[in-house]
Amino acid sequence: MKAIILSGGKGTRLRPLTYTGAKQLVPVANKPILWYGIESIVAAGITDIGIIISPETGEEVKTKTGNGELFGANITYILQDKPAGLAHAVKIARPFLGDSPFVMYLGDNLIQDTLNPLLTNFKEQHMDALIMLRPVPNPTSFGVAEVDAQGKVLRLVEKPKVPPSNLALVGIYFFNQVIHDAIDRIQPSARGELEITDAIQNLIDHQNHVEARQIEGWWLDTGKKDDLLSANQIILDTCLVNPKIAGDLDEKTQISGRVQIGEGSRLINCTVRGPVTIGKNCHLENCFIGPYSSVADQVSLTDVDLEHSVVLQGAQISGIHQRIVDSVIGQRAHLKAAPHRPKALRFMIGDDCQVELV
Ligand code: DAU
Repeated sequence: MKAIILSGGKGTRLRPLTYTGAKQLVPVANKPILWYGIESIVAAGITDIGIIISPETGEEVKTKTGNGELFGANITYILQDKPAGLAHAVKIARPFLGDSPFVMYLGDNLIQDTLNPLLTNFKEQHMDALIMLRPVPNPTSFGVAEVDAQGKVLRLVEKPKVPPSNLALVGIYFFNQVIHDAIDRIQPSARGELEITDAIQNLIDHQNHVEARQIEGWWLDTGKKDDLLSANQIILDTCLVNPKIAGDLDEKTQISGRVQIGEGSRLINCTVRGPVTIGKNCHLENCFIGPYSSVADQVSLTDVDLEHSVVLQGAQISGIHQRIVDSVIGQRAHLKAAPHRPKALRFMIGDDCQVELV
C-alpha cells in the first residue's frame, strides 16, 4: 500500500497568505496542515508516500518537510506542472504508484478518525474504491454523493448548483489500480480540471466495487480563513494534551489552562489562558493571550490583547488596545499602535503586509 498527498494547486481561497506560500504549509496549532496528513498515513502503517507539489510552492514544501525522516516515512516528491485537477495529479503519480493500491489524501484536509479501520475494510472487502462522506451545511462547495437507503453510492457530482444530498466527499480516498483506467476514460470538467469525482463516478458506471463510509469525527477542509481558525480551535482542544513550558516567564506573568511555550521565548507581564500554543524565540510583553490562539516562532507582541487567532512566523504587533479576535496574521506582518479605539477589529492580513492604525 502506498499513499499520495496532494500539495499542489493554487490556494486561491487562502489568499493573500498563499501568494507567497503553500496553503498546505499554513500552520494549525503551529504545525503545517500537511504534516497532520503525513502523520495519519504513517500511523496507518503506510510509509511509502508521494507528495504532489507545484512549481510555485514545491521547493518550500520540500525544504520544510524533507525526505520523510521526520515522520518515519519515505517521501518522493512529484511535480505537477499545472493544477489540472485531482485526477490529473493521480495520473502524473502513476510511475510512483505502479499497480499498488493507495490512499489519496488532500493536503489541506484534516480528519479526526484514524485511517486503520477504513484501510482494513478496503483491503478485506477487495474494494476498487472506498470514499468517505460527511453531512455538511454547504454541499455546493464540495463533491456530493447521492446514496440509496442502504447507503450505496448511486451518483457523485462535483460542486453541484443543486446538491442531491448534504453528503460531502471528504478529501481522503482509497483506490486500487483500476482508478487509472477510469481516469483514462474521463474528460476535463467545465472548470477545465480532470476531476477525481468524475473518475469515481466512472468506476460506478463500470460496475466496479465502490463503497462509501460516513465518518463520525470532525473533518476540516482548511481552505478558507474561518475553516483554518476552526481547525486551530479543534486541534488545540484535542491535541494539546501534555503541554510544555520551555520559555522564560517573569514573575508577573500568569498562565492558566493548557499552554505550550517554546524554547527561547520570553513573556513579560502577560496573562495567557489556554488552550494556547506559543512557538520558539517569541517576545511577549504586556499581553493577554486568550483561548484558541496559536503564535508561531519569532513573533513579537507588545501591548496586545488576542483571542481565537493565528499569528504566523515573524509577525510583529504592538500597541493595539482593542482585542484582536478571529484573525489570521501573516508571516512577518507588522501591526502598530491604535491611538483611537475602534469598536472591533477583524483581520485577514497577508505575508509581509504593514498595517498602521492611525
Ligand atoms: O475537501 C474536500 C473536497 O476536495 C471534495 O469534496 C471535492 O470533491 C474535491 O474536488 C476537493 O475540492 P476542493 O475544491 O477543495 O479541491 P482543491 O482545489 O482545494 O484541492 C484540494 C487539494 O489538492 C489541495 O491541497 C491542492 C491540491 N491540488 C489541487 C489541484 C486542483 C493539487 O495538488 N493539484 C491539483 O491539480
